[in-house]
Amino acid sequence: MKLKKNILCIGAGYVGGPSMAMIAYKCPDYRVTVVDINGDRIDAWNSDNLPVYEPGLEKIVKKTRGNNLFFRKDIENQIKENDIIFVSVNTPTKTYGAGADMAADLQYVEKTARQILKYSRSSKIVIEKSTLPVKTALAIEKILSSSKGRIKFDVLSNPEFMAEGTAVKDLENPDRVLIGSRETKSALNARNQLIEIYARWIPLKKIITSNIWSSELSKLVANAFLAQRVSSINSISALCEKTDADITEVAKAVGMDSRIGDKFLKAGIGFGGSCFKKDILNLAYLCEYYGLNEVASYWKSVIKINQYQQDRFIANILHRMFGTLAGKKICIWGFAFKADTSDTRESPAIYVAKKLIAEQAEIIISDPQAMKNAVSDLADSKGTIRYVEDPYEAASGCHAILILTDWDLYRKMDFRKIYRSMVKPAFIFDGRNIIEREKCFDIGFNVYSIGKSALSHI
Ligand code: NAD
Ligand code: UGA
Repeated sequence: MKLKKNILCIGAGYVGGPSMAMIAYKCPDYRVTVVDINGDRIDAWNSDNLPVYEPGLEKIVKKTRGNNLFFRKDIENQIKENDIIFVSVNTPTKTYGAGADMAADLQYVEKTARQILKYSRSSKIVIEKSTLPVKTALAIEKILSSSKGRIKFDVLSNPEFMAEGTAVKDLENPDRVLIGSRETKSALNARNQLIEIYARWIPLKKIITSNIWSSELSKLVANAFLAQRVSSINSISALCEKTDADITEVAKAVGMDSRIGDKFLKAGIGFGGSCFKKDILNLAYLCEYYGLNEVASYWKSVIKINQYQQDRFIANILHRMFGTLAGKKICIWGFAFKADTSDTRESPAIYVAKKLIAEQAEIIISDPQAMKNAVSDLADSKGTIRYVEDPYEAASGCHAILILTDWDLYRKMDFRKIYRSMVKPAFIFDGRNIIEREKCFDIGFNVYSIGKSALSHI
């Protein structure tokens, strides 16, 4: 097949890889190339062991890779050869200087813009796919127009809304695709070219356009609203534990109001992942920058509750296990920040594990996909940590099991068999409310869930 258009993506991470694989899969006549400064990542994308675990991803990569999807290291060449460039580099929270611990670190985006300017020999459409503070497009435009050549650049904002663990599903059938642009003739033409790509598989009514600043801001706000729902339900879970109300019943009753909706109301040990915290901090930083201190502190409280939920979980473990964890064996089921991903960035499991180590517990970690990341997350922790893939073996000989990720597998365990292999009294702290708690209690476990009364034999 003759390839019609060339698309490049700079950044081969959790977003760049899957989102470009989807474009290649849906547009077989487009040549899609993904580059990264991290050569190991590119090697992994070209291997049988993809760097990102996502249900369904392997299938579409295998179908497209080498045909119209390419993972390459020659960034300069690829910039020269492609006219549509997505920027999907990381935008972590700044750890230094002005705005440290709040603002987005834009050095990777800026370096990418400079690279694009340096190696371009023809006009390009540059698309922000990374999550960026509102007004970043202005900085990118200024960099790209700083050399007075005849090459023209149109900058678009096209934030990505996929979630990890459901990336393929979300990319294939998104709630919406948002494209922000300037209103100039050339920008509108660029916008139409991007619409043409998505329209291959997404109904036009789901492809919405806006001004470029609304688009940048909408992405931060969507994440802030999602995180706010999690913190809202978690704050109420604390009250449920004091009052014998049950958080699942409350969430159901509240969520059935169609104005509120039932999604994102699962109480747990708090949200993790690379984006919620960083994007809210970024939003709060922007508000402070514009002197909107009350607005900033409103959003910061979402993060405060998230931290409080994790501290509450640990305090409860310590309290229920007679005030000491020293020398006790604690099994952690699930290290990923959510099910169906190997990603552990900002996973509550990291914080919980470190707190248990500080209490001198011996910890045994089990996760179906995230073991490699867990090992590197805890590499600097001085404590007794074992990594055991089989959850039965991991729990055997332990005093307690903590469920920290909502992997489906943990719902289906043989708890009778597990109970027999554990030290008594045996404890389960279900940080995701996924087990059949009455059944486990009847087997003999002391069961502590989030936002529910304790089921305790002691
Ligand atoms: P990531 O860290 O997994 O990937 C970013 C990649 O960019 C890295 O592999 C890095 O080596 C590469 N990179 C950095 N500078 C580069 C340069 N100058 N040239 C070439 N490559 C470069 O990050 P991610 O999770 O894919 O997130 C990327 C962006 O997308 C972030 O802004 C994030 O907020 C946003 N986002 C992430 C998700 C998600 O689920 N992870 C979802 C929506 C949006
Ligand atoms: C989130 C958003 O859902 C995506 O739309 C967005 O594109 C992405 O961030 C991003 O910008 O990176 P993600 O972090 O991958 O996606 O996963 P979520 O499903 O949002 O879960 C985030 C955290 O909240 C997880 O730790 C999850 O366990 C927790 N959560 C979620 C709850 O505790 N309760 C819920 O009801 C829902």
